[in-house]
This record gives sequence, C-alpha cells and structure tokens, in this order.
Amino acid sequence: MAKRRCEIGMIGLGVMGRNFVLNMADRGYSVAGLDIDRGKVDALRKEAGGLRVHSTGIIQEFVSLLHEPRAVMMLVPAGPPVDSVIKDVVSHLKKGDLIIDGGNSYFRDTDRRERSLRKKGIGYLGVGISGGEHGARYGPSIMPGGSRTAYDRVRTIFESAAAHIGEEPCVTYLGPGSSGHYVKMVHNGIEYGLLQLIAETYDILKRGLGLNNDELHEVYKSWNGKELGGYLIEITANIFSYVDEKTGKRLIDVILDAARQKGTGMWTSKDALELQVPIPTVDVAVAMRNLSAIDKERREASNVLKGPSTKFRGDKKRFIEKLRNALFVSVILTYSQGMNQLRAASRAYKYNLDLEAVARIWRGGCIIRAAVLEDIRTAYRAQPDLQNLLFNAYFADAVMSRQDDLRTVVSTAAKLGFPAPALMISLAYFDGYRSSWLPANLIQAQRDYFGAHSYERVDAKGVFHTHWE
Ligand code: 6PG
Repeated sequence: MAKRRCEIGMIGLGVMGRNFVLNMADRGYSVAGLDIDRGKVDALRKEAGGLRVHSTGIIQEFVSLLHEPRAVMMLVPAGPPVDSVIKDVVSHLKKGDLIIDGGNSYFRDTDRRERSLRKKGIGYLGVGISGGEHGARYGPSIMPGGSRTAYDRVRTIFESAAAHIGEEPCVTYLGPGSSGHYVKMVHNGIEYGLLQLIAETYDILKRGLGLNNDELHEVYKSWNGKELGGYLIEITANIFSYVDEKTGKRLIDVILDAARQKGTGMWTSKDALELQVPIPTVDVAVAMRNLSAIDKERREASNVLKGPSTKFRGDKKRFIEKLRNALFVSVILTYSQGMNQLRAASRAYKYNLDLEAVARIWRGGCIIRAAVLEDIRTAYRAQPDLQNLLFNAYFADAVMSRQDDLRTVVSTAAKLGFPAPALMISLAYFDGYRSSWLPANLIQAQRDYFGAHSYERVDAKGVFHTHWE
C-alpha cells in the first residue's frame, strides 16, 4: 500500500465514522480509517469497494498512510473516549499535524483539548456534525470551530462532504476555540425543544381529538407542506405509518414512552442558565424528558392522581389548523431562544459568531433543517446584530397574527388535562418578552425583606435597602 497518499484519516468506524469516510471517499478523497474493532475495519473495507479507502486496525499503519502535515479526524463517543484516542494518537504525530473531533463533545472539553495540543504544536478543530447516519453518508451540516488556519487545511474536503442548498455547502468556519461544538450543542438544544413541541401536538391530537395513526400521518404530512416544513415534521409523518414486523401493529404504539438523552440538551440549558439567557422552551423539553423517564412512578401516580374528565368538543378540522399555527409560533420562539443563546455565548466566549452563517448552514443536512431557517437567515442578513428574531418584521407578524391560536391550544390542553409545557412556556416567553412591566419588583421587595439583598428604584439611580419589619 503506497505510503502517505491519504488526504485525511478517520479514527472511529462506527455508524457516523464509517459513513463520513464513505462520504469523503465518494467525493474523490483518499481516506484512511482506523478502529480497534476488527469487525468495523472489515465492514468499512467491504463497503468501500473500489473507493480510495484504506481501513486498518493498526495505528502505525494508519498514520503512515496520511499525507503530511497530517489531518486526523475522530468520531468517537463524547467524554473520556476522546481523551484516550488523543492520548494514543498524539505520540505518532508531529508539529503541524491536525486533530479534528467530529463528535458531540462538551465545549469546555474542546477548549481544554485545543489548549493542551497547541503546546505540542498540534492543531485542533471541534466540529459539530449534524444529520445522523444518513447525513454523515450523503451530506451533513458541518459546524467547525478552532483556528482558521487549521480549518483552511480541511475546508475543501468539508465543503464537498457537506449537504448543499443549491450551490451553497452547509458548512462554514464558525469561529475560534469551541465555537463549532457550542453551535452544535445549541442546535441540539433547539432539537430538544422542537421534539417536545411536536410530541405535545401528538398528545393533543391522539388523546384529545382521538386521531388514529393514519389520521396522524395525514396531519403531519399536510403540515410538512406548509411553513412548518422540515425534517422533523417529515419523519414524524412517516413514523405513524411504520408497521412493527414483530406484532403487525404500528411500531409507534409499542415504543415505551420514556425518552432517553445523551445530554446535549441539558448542556444547552445549563450554559444558558450560567449566561442568564432565557431559553424556557429548551429547559422544559429537558425537564419533560426527565418526567417521561420516571414512567414506572407515573403509572403508580396515575392510579391515585385524577385530572379532569373533560372531553374535546368542537370542530376538529378547525382545531387542527389552530394547532398547526400554535406549533409554528412555538417553533419560531424556540429558534429565537437558541439564536439568542448563541449571540450571548459569542460575546461571553469571544466566538465572534455570524448568526446568518449559522442559519445558512442549518438549512440543510442537520436534524433541525426546516423551511423557516431561510427566513431566519434572511433576518440576520438584513440585520446581523438583531437582538431577537421577534424584532424582525416577518417573525413579529408571524407570531402576533397566530398568537390567538396558541392561546386557544394552551387553554384547551390545560382544560383537558394534557401536559403541554413547551407550548405553554413558549407562549409565556412571548408574553414575558413583550411585557414592558413584569411583577419582578415584588420579588425584589421580598428578597430585600427577608435577605436585605437590596433593590433598584424606577425614580433614582443606585441600590437601596429598607428595614421592612
Ligand atoms: C444530530 C443529532 C445527533 C444525535 C443527538 C441525540 O444533530 O445529528 O442531534 O447529535 O442524534 O445527539 O441526542 P439525545 O440522545 O440527547 O437526544
């Protein structure tokens, strides 16, 4: 095997790693793959056929196959596995080589790894890759962060491997340090919010309006053709049609109602709380995953805690249209919360993020890709420092003109006893954000009363304290 002829190497030949190798090879690159699992090494070799892919289980051979300066990508589970792969490979690398972490790593880990490798003269990129197995194989959205020089080394490979909208690749250099992994983390936070919102509409349609799986399929299929169009609505429609081979029932009806999580949504929430950026729809989506996960306890509770026995009455067709508008409003509010977090993080961590570019590369390949991202991109292109999407005329009108439907849906869910906290808190976020006055003066008074924490006044500068007793 000729030495040093691969443009890039991949460590980790699992679902994402193997598919991304095949994607890059499909685009004409010669790629070396490494995994400790012999089965994965053989699977790649078999699937690669005549492509210029060199799959091995031996790290010395892997490294010897790479053009110098080397570019070594890894797609391994976030956390300690990343550190152990870096430790194993770095002894085979030299100054000027580059390591790329394409996994869902926590952004503070990425900063730590980049700093420590920089001391050895090794470049490091933290790259978010979104789109799951299909995306990795045929075109994900790629969110790279780190040094610009390091990125330029792999720019053409990533631009050819990424999804495209027209001629535009869904990848761009996002900024220094962990900016790429941070953008991916917030992408996943928005994903949590959207998944929870869609699940709440499913609950209301199923338990409230009594729709069966075929009717549910039709509703989401029709929603996919309008402003709500996007990957998550599309797969939701497909899910209701899928038949379980084992039972012959619809698979959705035999899936346990306990959501699991790898943690990226929680990380998003945690850092938003640290930055004091309100992202309540994402926060409640994380909380509802936790509530769904105590399914045994919920079944016990359902035997003792009774809610309303009210049944839905009214025109189902008209209500479904209201539900579509309610979901669209809440989707906009969720994206706006996520973009606000990116804006705050960009300031706090000096990422220098371009939010138009973020929306641009999210239009294709990633899990949250949707028609609305074109409008989000347009909004930030018109006003790069837009402080909230709700200040953009299109989005302000989109929300204000549909707010009554969200209010109807939220009150109906409350009356019927269905938990729809993401829809409810999206409305609360809108009502809170547009309020020129909020009852926080009472909280200030209470804090000062019991804890002498002081307060500001509306009629004078400075901070004050009162002996309330
Ligand atoms: C993506 C997905 C991907 C993964 C999620 C799952 O962008 O391709 O979001 O990152 O499927 O991380 O996250 P949870 O297990 O936390 O739902």
